[in-house]
Amino acid sequence: MIIDYRHEPREGEEKRVTWRDMIGNASVKRNLLQLFLWPAKYPAEFTGLLAPQEGLLPFGPPRNGKTMAAKAVASKCKATFFNVDAASFGSKWFGDSEKMVKALFEVARERAPSIIFMDEVDGIMPASGADLGFGSQALNRIKAELLVQLDGLPTTADRVQVIGATNRPWDIDVALLNRLPIRTYVPLPDQEGRAALFRKLLGTNTRGHTLTDDDFDHVAIKTEGYSYRDLTKLCREAAYVSVREALMTDDVDECLEDESEAVMALRSRRSLQVNKVLTAAQKIKPTTHPQLIARLEDWKNEYAEQT
Ligand SMILES: Nc1ncnc2c1ncn2[C@@H]1O[C@H](COP(=O)(O)OP(=O)(O)O)[C@@H](O)[C@H]1O
Ligand SMILES: [Mg+2]
Repeated sequence: MIIDYRHEPREGEEKRVTWRDMIGNASVKRNLLQLFLWPAKYPAEFTGLLAPQEGLLPFGPPRNGKTMAAKAVASKCKATFFNVDAASFGSKWFGDSEKMVKALFEVARERAPSIIFMDEVDGIMPASGADLGFGSQALNRIKAELLVQLDGLPTTADRVQVIGATNRPWDIDVALLNRLPIRTYVPLPDQEGRAALFRKLLGTNTRGHTLTDDDFDHVAIKTEGYSYRDLTKLCREAAYVSVREALMTDDVDECLEDESEAVMALRSRRSLQVNKVLTAAQKIKPTTHPQLIARLEDWKNEYAEQT
């Protein structure tokens, strides 16, 4: 069961996500298996030294699968899954935020096994200075309550586990960071990951594609620095080129008629070719700043597990 406390789902977030949709990201998948999926499925195996562990913090560049990974857990795992972000504790429950935090953990304990997923956790518990629009006193009370609740989590078989995701781990309050000790980096896709995503997405094109293995290698090499989301946009763009071409006719009004020439042309369009992908790559550029990657890698070297 999934209980969504968030104010509003984010743009571009697909509703249902499964493991099959997720390319690459081996280290985060391994952590999710050993910390969440296996313990939920084989509880008898995960006792004693293997008893449930403390919180997991996937961190990495934006639009690159952290939320997706958590959602895949939600869809696969038998646990009750609570989805919260900064807005959950903000305007909706204004004035009662710390009670809201307490209630969240109470329900989670009642419904255990539970997973509380705190998306963009740097916003829920910023290190300092951030203004969520409900005053620093209120924010401090929320922080304090969250820490109390996290410390009180049961570690027995009927448990509540926590996942926090962030693009900016250095902005998380240090006390909260200590409660999320298993920090796993979710990097941009490597060449192999990019090729795999291209194969998967172009494979869903209605008219198919004509890319060879060499073409896939080529487009993967050309898209270094792209996030999974950037690549997804790029593939959509490539597929849309022929729709746009069809609409470039002089008589756009004619296109509004169902059997116009342009519509016929669109219906009989050819499968997607590599040049369309390369043209799309001219238009859709990577959105992750290299400086952000450098900063994340530094943080990883200092604070995260090394994989
Ligand atoms: N590993 C992946 N495999 C396939 N698509 C992905 C992957 N990671 C991200 N995406 C695509 O990028 C979008 C944004 O990912 P999301 O999980 O929201 O990023 P964030 O890391 O910011 O939480 C997803 O909705 C999905 O379309
Ligand atoms: Mg996210």
